[in-house]
Amino acid sequence: MRGLLVFGRTGQLATELMSLAPDATFLGRDMADLNDPEGCARAIRDAAPCAVINAAAHTAVDRAEAERDAAHRINTEAPAAMARACAASGLPFLHVSTDYVFDGSGRTPRSEDAPTAPLGVYGATKLAGERAIADAGGQWAVMRTSWVFSAHGTNFVKTMLRLGAERDRLTIVDDQIGGPTPARDIAAAALAMIRAMLDDPAKGGLYHFAGAPDTSWAGFAREIFAQAGLTPEVSGIPTAEYPTPARRPLNSRLDCTRIGTDFGIPRPDWRKGLAEILKDLETGQ
Ligand SMILES: NC(=O)c1ccc[n+]([C@@H]2O[C@H](COP(=O)([O-])OP(=O)(O)OC[C@H]3O[C@@H](n4cnc5c(N)ncnc54)[C@H](OP(=O)(O)O)[C@@H]3O)[C@@H](O)[C@H]2O)c1
Repeated sequence: MRGLLVFGRTGQLATELMSLAPDATFLGRDMADLNDPEGCARAIRDAAPCAVINAAAHTAVDRAEAERDAAHRINTEAPAAMARACAASGLPFLHVSTDYVFDGSGRTPRSEDAPTAPLGVYGATKLAGERAIADAGGQWAVMRTSWVFSAHGTNFVKTMLRLGAERDRLTIVDDQIGGPTPARDIAAAALAMIRAMLDDPAKGGLYHFAGAPDTSWAGFAREIFAQAGLTPEVSGIPTAEYPTPARRPLNSRLDCTRIGTDFGIPRPDWRKGLAEILKDLETGQ
């Protein structure tokens, strides 16, 4: 997609955007550091694009607890500066956020209008970013997604493939429930949304997008092992038995009705995305 500017080049989402939209311009950390929000705004003005997607973020959920200032600059101030620069130039801006804006209470899927209450610094800084983007006054879309995986970078699938080959038995959290989401499907959805926003300046807003069906991390692991032909025994454990610096929401179910209604984008079946990724990894793509 010529004229599209993307912040991020090496992350899971940026890599998939690059394969689907090779004509777009991708700015890595060396060309646009999100620690410098005004530099990001300048990069937009200099590139004079037709639309902007932010695929970069401080995604290290546990490290963010100790890196509050950096997480705030990268997840709040930088997207805010991007959104203001886009608003000033009349460009559609699409940003990606997270299920971690919620506290994870209850057992039902949350809609975009459900009350937010992040449990940690990562979720709080992402939520503040969402709000600043909405306040910037331009045409914007924020897509909240969850449990992102791909053939690239570090993610749960890659970790399970390694551990499943090394160990006979694994204990995995089974009381956090959410939708694993292939980065490739997020990239395809983001591009469809930005095209629709270019066609219709009234389009935009806050959207949920996650893979289906909802499962636990243990359920996700069992499917990875089944598809990869690995046979470790998986025992489910509660989150309380796997302490981490940042608390995670137990209920990460996202109601994705709105993105279907407004953009015609359905929830993807993550098991199909997983099969494609395993094939990519096998053939070294
Ligand atoms: N991963 C998940 O499970 C998950 C879940 C829900 C929502 N999300 C959201 O989905 C979006 C995409 O996530 P992802 O999984 O693709 O993340 P990722 O693989 O961790 O990639 C993050 C990207 O951000 C870049 N970045 C970090 N700090 C930067 C800085 N100071 N300046 C410039 N670039 C910087 C990284 O660049 P380097 O490679 O140079 O570090 C990397 O390319 C993010 O908005 C994330 O919050 C992710």
